[in-house]
This record gives sequence, structure tokens and C-alpha cells, in this order.
Amino acid sequence: MKIVITGVSKGLGRYLAIELLRLGHDVWGISRKEREHSEIKNLFQYPNFIYSACDLTSESHISRFAEEIAGRNFPVDVLVLNAALMGNDYVNGVWDFEKFREIMEVNFMGAANLTAKLLPSFQQREKGIILGISSISSIRALLMDKIAYAPSKSALNMMFESLRLQLGYSYPGIRFITFNPGPLEQRDQIFSSSYSHIGRKIISIIENNKYKDIYTYPLMSSIIYKVFQLIPDRFIARYIIQPRRKHKEKQK
Ligand SMILES: NC(=O)c1ccc[n+]([C@@H]2O[C@H](COP(=O)([O-])OP(=O)(O)OC[C@H]3O[C@@H](n4cnc5c(N)ncnc54)[C@H](OP(=O)(O)O)[C@@H]3O)[C@@H](O)[C@H]2O)c1
Repeated sequence: MKIVITGVSKGLGRYLAIELLRLGHDVWGISRKEREHSEIKNLFQYPNFIYSACDLTSESHISRFAEEIAGRNFPVDVLVLNAALMGNDYVNGVWDFEKFREIMEVNFMGAANLTAKLLPSFQQREKGIILGISSISSIRALLMDKIAYAPSKSALNMMFESLRLQLGYSYPGIRFITFNPGPLEQRDQIFSSSYSHIGRKIISIIENNKYKDIYTYPLMSSIIYKVFQLIPDRFIARYIIQPRRKHKEKQK
């Protein structure tokens, strides 16, 4: 299969790229890093790897990338929207709105822009998978010091829902899948999963073209977050967020 993955320079995107390349798929990766960067150079050991440096906040970068894809005869079977920023935009009682904007630009607008640019080729071929790596934070905004992250991911999920509803009848062969992982590779979080654990699940969805629209994984994180949906915000702010903030401040 011909697969485009955003955010291949590290983390889950890098894991997915390497595993899919090993399985013999053609992978076209993007991230902001130049191709000479060691993390990227390394991936060229696989002859089926193609790369473009592309900043998802830049209209001109995304347009150039879409032109490159069209010019190189790379009919995309699977688009994995994985790149994201997870930084803190609420620090020491101050909402950093520029940071907020940047997170929304990468996680939501950049993913939407790239999808819009590549969608016509999926429509022409009437098949393919567009897979959004979202987050369990789209269900409940529990992460410390973050305002943008949860809405950037819930907006992404709703965009996928709209795409399913608007295109589902005319293009039943195009699958719009959202994948909501719980915490990844985080020692301070209970029920954190490894990139390989989550990555393998995603690869099995891609390879077996499974027929579910939304995956929330692993099950335990999904249950915990659903329970947290029932707890009032005021309670969480007082008994979970605030004590954690105090604990963090003490540790400084
Ligand atoms: N880590 C977690 O605990 C967790 C939990 C649930 C869901 N997720 C989701 O899982 C996905 C992968 O997470 P991860 O932990 O692997 O993240 P990560 O290690 O921070 O990697 C993020 C990737 O996105 C790329 N990226 C960031 N800004 C970009 C931009 N403007 N243009 C193009 N690429 C950009 C980065 O590349 P450059 O910096 O080189 O551009 C990097 O390759 C994300 O969608 C994340 O939201 C993560």
C-alpha cells in the first residue's frame, strides 16, 4: 500500500513508519525536520521510504507537498494524520494564546488542510483510509496545564464524523477512522501504553481494513475517561487538578 504519515521524526509516527516499511509498504513521511536530520536520514535505509519536510501550519508547504505527491504518481491508499503538538498553553496562571493557536493550527487545521488537499484523489479512486490519530483527551480534558490540546482533538474527531456523514453514501469505499489512544510512553500516568502496543493495533486496522469508525484504546483508559465524564468539572478542578498543580510546584 502507499501510505502517507505525518510526524515521522519521532514517537508513534516514527514507529508506524518503520514497521510499515518493514512490512513492505511504501511510506511517504513528513515532519518539519530537514531530510539531513539524523532521525530522518536513518529512515532512508528503507528503499521504500520517501520524505518531505513540511510544516503543517504553512499553507504553502502543504500545497507544495500535495503537488509533489501528484507529480510523483503516488496514489495514496492510507493517510495517517499523526503529527501533533502537546505542549502546555496554561502555565503559572497565564493562558498563552499564541501557543494555543499553534496547537490548534497543527493538530486540527493542518490535519484538515492536508485532508482537503488529498481528498480529491481518494474520491477519484473511490477508496482508501484516512486515519486520524486523536486522543482520549477528546473525551475529557483532564491533562494538566493544557487548554488547546483537548479541543484540537475533539474538533478533529468531529471533522471525521462530518466527513463520514457527508461522503459516506457517495463514497462508501473511503474510510474515515479516528483512533483515540490513552497516554503513551508516560511514566507518570497510570495505564500508559507503549508506542509499539498502540502502533501494532493501528497497523492491524490498516492492513485488515477493519470496519469500525472510532477506536478508543486501550479499554482501561477508555473506561476511566468515560467514568470521569460523569464527575462534575468543579470536583475534578478541586480534587484532582489543583492538588497535582500544588504537588508540581512543591517539586520545583
Ligand atoms: N504522547 C501521548 O501521550 C499521546 C496520547 C494520546 C494521543 N497522542 C497522539 O498520538 C500522536 C503521536 O504522539 P507522539 O507522542 O508520537 O508525539 P511526538 O513524539 O511529539 O511526535 C509528534 C510528531 O509531530 C510532528 N510535528 C509537530 N509539529 C508539526 C508541524 N507543524 N508540521 C509537521 N509535523 C509536525 C513532529 O515532528 P517535528 O517536530 O520534527 O516537526 C513529530 O514527528 C499525536 O497525534 C498525539 O496527539 C499522544
